[in-house]
Amino acid sequence: MNFEFTEEQLMIQESARDFAQNEIAPTTVKRDINAEFPADIVKKLGELGFLGMMVSPEFGGAGLDTISYVLAMIEISKVDASVGVIMSVNNSLVCWGLEEYGSDFLKQKYLIPLAQGQKLGAFALSEPEAGSDATQQRTMAEKNGEFFVLNGIKNWITNGTSADYYLVMAQTDKEKGHKGITTFLVEKGIEGFGHGVKEDKLGIRSSDTCSLTFENCKVPKENIVWEEGRGFNFAMNTLNGGRIGIAAQALGIAEASLDAAIKYSKQRKAFGKEISNFQAIQFKLSDMAVKIDAAKLLTFKAAALKDAGKSFTNEAAMAKLYSSKIAVECALEAIQIHGGYGYVREYLVERYLRDAKITEIYEGTSEIQKVVIARSLLKDN
Ligand code: CAA
Repeated sequence: MNFEFTEEQLMIQESARDFAQNEIAPTTVKRDINAEFPADIVKKLGELGFLGMMVSPEFGGAGLDTISYVLAMIEISKVDASVGVIMSVNNSLVCWGLEEYGSDFLKQKYLIPLAQGQKLGAFALSEPEAGSDATQQRTMAEKNGEFFVLNGIKNWITNGTSADYYLVMAQTDKEKGHKGITTFLVEKGIEGFGHGVKEDKLGIRSSDTCSLTFENCKVPKENIVWEEGRGFNFAMNTLNGGRIGIAAQALGIAEASLDAAIKYSKQRKAFGKEISNFQAIQFKLSDMAVKIDAAKLLTFKAAALKDAGKSFTNEAAMAKLYSSKIAVECALEAIQIHGGYGYVREYLVERYLRDAKITEIYEGTSEIQKVVIARSLLKDN
């Protein structure tokens, strides 16, 4: 067992940290207040290779491992979790899935610009009546010659209005249940494909989330990812990696909360001394640090297993479950340490709480992660 990062991994971490502090931080608060998508930042992230981190250079990516991706995700999310989720969806749900399962045609036409950051991707699985119970897809894709005709609605789509390419799960054979679901790559702007208004969210307000609508939307059959009927397996396999990205996003928020709590506790005086001198505060800081370290170990373990080509479904679920839980806890404690100042915008920690909450919901709720973990326990024992 080796707990050291390589020089290359540390370099990626440092360059993500520099980028986050110099290019992202100056506009984070304003974009959160105005729910403004960080288009310029996303463009620069792409130019630096942060949008196709794990894609091989052959397809325009940086060819890095999952550990490097986690390190970068933590640094970016520590400053702005909205930018974190935009980056996570493009890397783990869109690029990874296309490289792993896409045809050469799809890789040449779509993966290269996505990995180079010239185009942005979105992942469309959830529907108004298919959230946690994702097999219940109502979006239909009916075969018509060389095309499939899509009809239906998707919900809660990250990068919903800003993406160029969408991976859309739809039912091609209702009789077959989840084995009749297929994934399509749908380009923005094609006839019959629209989107709803941007959701007015509690947190990650600078990322854009909306519904998608398909009305007799014709998608060429060569835009099927993997094979007809493999769309649900595609979504599940891809989400396993996505969950590592969200665990890293949650870790970034938790670290930001601890840093803010330490800084404030060393400045704020009460009863004649800095509050960091009181055990009540010290115990909170210690608890936060232990939780963050435990969550990191889970997340890097899942990433290391993925890099080694081993099964990591269970580990990714554990990493996401625990990291998202402690992100909420750490943000709450940071607010408590700040007292009244923690409850107002000026001190940032209220945003950490708002941003942390979604990590317990998207890419599989905490309850779904527990289902995944329990199934593995019951199967293996
Ligand atoms: N990894 C790989 N395969 C998996 C899997 C996993 N984690 N979970 C299920 N599967 C496979 C099963 O092996 C099975 O495959 P076969 O039929 O080929 O054998 C198939 O999926 C169906 O599985 P189940 O019979 O277990 O189906 P189920 O309905 O009982 O449970 C579920 C499935 C685990 C609850 C699944 O529906 C699930 O994960 N739900 C959560 C959905 C989710 O994460 N949504 C996130 C939306 S995307 C998002 O949030 C992105 C964003 O924009 C930020």
